[in-house]
Amino acid sequence: MGSTRLVGTTHLVGIIGWPVSHSRSPQMHNAAYAALGLDWAYVPLPVAPERVGVAVRGLVALGFAGANVTVPHKQAVIPFLDELTPVAQAIGAVNTIVVRPDGSLLGDSTDGAGFMADLRAHRVLVGEGQRIETDERITPENSAYTVSPLHPVPPSPCHRVLVIGAGGAARAVVYALAETGATVTIANRTLDNAEALCRSIAAALPHAASRLSAHPFAGALAGLAEEADLIVNTTSLGLHAGDPLPWDASVAFRPDQVVYDLIYNRRTELLTLARSQGATALDGLGMLVHQGARSAALWTGKDEAELAHLMREGLRTP
Ligand code: ATR
Repeated sequence: MGSTRLVGTTHLVGIIGWPVSHSRSPQMHNAAYAALGLDWAYVPLPVAPERVGVAVRGLVALGFAGANVTVPHKQAVIPFLDELTPVAQAIGAVNTIVVRPDGSLLGDSTDGAGFMADLRAHRVLVGEGQRIETDERITPENSAYTVSPLHPVPPSPCHRVLVIGAGGAARAVVYALAETGATVTIANRTLDNAEALCRSIAAALPHAASRLSAHPFAGALAGLAEEADLIVNTTSLGLHAGDPLPWDASVAFRPDQVVYDLIYNRRTELLTLARSQGATALDGLGMLVHQGARSAALWTGKDEAELAHLMREGLRTP
């Protein structure tokens, strides 16, 4: 892996969060920039909640080209931006800020697109009219963190998706899924939160409204699981060893189902269970890679698939 050299001309980007010390984004971005020979550097920017406004506006003053935004600031940055993309507006969250040449700030969210790109890279096609084109392909050599064996995996069309959880991560995922024409069912501990999520996505995507539904997790899961081609965990359950499953272990997975867990820091019990029952099990590291590649493509103008490939390589290097 090449190393990042900071000189007077270096273009700066970074990640705003609190804390950010655990973030893997600096490693993967800097690896990709170095591999491409770009004079760019990606720095951690720990920003306390009471300083979000000055930090965001400070990006312009300090000559940054942009920044990623992570927890807990994805909503908090919005009042300090000049414009939002339709997706950021619809989900009420920003993970990417672009500083435009006139000094104005554009807020975007690349999380949902990153999720979809990772599914495509794994040959999982969601909704209508999806095709595998030039996106990066996962191979045994670069899939070190993927739980399931990937060859041969036939392209699997998924029309019915079950999303577990209705928090911030779910918003980006449900919006992206709803856009594809898939039927999206949300199951959540708190039914009110799932219903509110459905309402806000339906308001942004009226043509998708009839294909969105909300259900309580308890009681409804067996029936919902039976009907799903793709199951996505968006809750934080599984982040720590010993967490309860975001699932009911008495509900079995099928070999024709794909189970995607947004968690990427460890192999979750959900994925281990899904894999043991023959389902395809995918973790969220690919979503991290693809959301990052899309952000970097917005800032640098470089090819997103190439960036994704280099970021994935960069994460494999300790
Ligand atoms: P994020 O922004 O990372 O998605 P969040 O907004 O706190 O995090 O959302 C967490 C999601 O995980 C919610 O869907 C939450 O369910 P509720 O809406 O009922 O709060 C779900 N969740 C968190 N802890 C849970 C638990 N112990 N059991 C079931 N669901 C849980």
